[in-house]
Amino acid sequence: MLNTADAHPLDSIKYTKTQKVIIEPDVLRNNRVIMGLYNDPRADIFRVLRTNVLRQLRENNWSSFAITSATPGAGKTFICVNLAIAIAMEGNQSVLIVDADFRRPSVSQYLGLQCELGLVDYLKGNISLEDTLINPGIERLVILPGKNSNTNSSELISSRKMINLIKEIKSRYESRIIIFDLPPLFVGDEALLFMPYVDAALLVVEDGKNTPDELQHSMSILEQTNLLGLILNKSRQPLPSYQYGYIGETV
Ligand SMILES: Nc1ncnc2c1ncn2[C@@H]1O[C@H](COP(=O)(O)OP(=O)(O)O)[C@@H](O)[C@H]1O
Ligand SMILES: [Mg+2]
Repeated sequence: MLNTADAHPLDSIKYTKTQKVIIEPDVLRNNRVIMGLYNDPRADIFRVLRTNVLRQLRENNWSSFAITSATPGAGKTFICVNLAIAIAMEGNQSVLIVDADFRRPSVSQYLGLQCELGLVDYLKGNISLEDTLINPGIERLVILPGKNSNTNSSELISSRKMINLIKEIKSRYESRIIIFDLPPLFVGDEALLFMPYVDAALLVVEDGKNTPDELQHSMSILEQTNLLGLILNKSRQPLPSYQYGYIGETV
């Protein structure tokens, strides 16, 4: 629990070197970043998801989680960006999104950001972490953008530099939640390689596309991972709100 009598941990966060950009509401609307829009009624879905996720993170003293799915296009990045904004808006913590989808990085695209440098550049080159970070004009949200690695992403994920980066971003600020947008589980081994770096994972299931067998296979791949929940995305039939799992109605 946060003790409001003490100095708030967020007070110590200064993104002095982090680039700041302002995003146009039209870009957010077109890209379905509904949490970034003023008073959009559909944002309630992400508030419910936020509350469920934060409760589990706090109960277990976890600060990082990954978002993955069986197959591409399930809605990982859509959920990652909206959930990250929802968590940042809650106000008790800052959020860092790490776009670790080396195959199809798109977090910056969702926010309409032009990023020259990304995670791959940091891992392959001699640039500082601060040179890659972007604050997209949303309070308490910072992005470490992604870029295609073209080759050897598995080796990059297992590299000493990646291990050190994970340690660094986890320890740097108290009261910060790190969300990793990962590649799908069924394409290469990157998502699986990433799992030891995170406290937990959310699995996005695409309604009408992912089969029960795919779901079962995903769960077996994630056997060693703490599962925060399944998100049924692009659902054509909204589930009752009390049912376990989360709903991402088509928006
Ligand atoms: N709930 C939803 N309703 C409508 N379109 C969605 C929904 N979730 C995702 N999409 C769209 O589906 C496409 C793939 O989503 P994306 O998040 O980029 O997938 P992934 O990151 O899993 O590959 C995007 O065009 C996105 O806007
Ligand atoms: Mg994606």
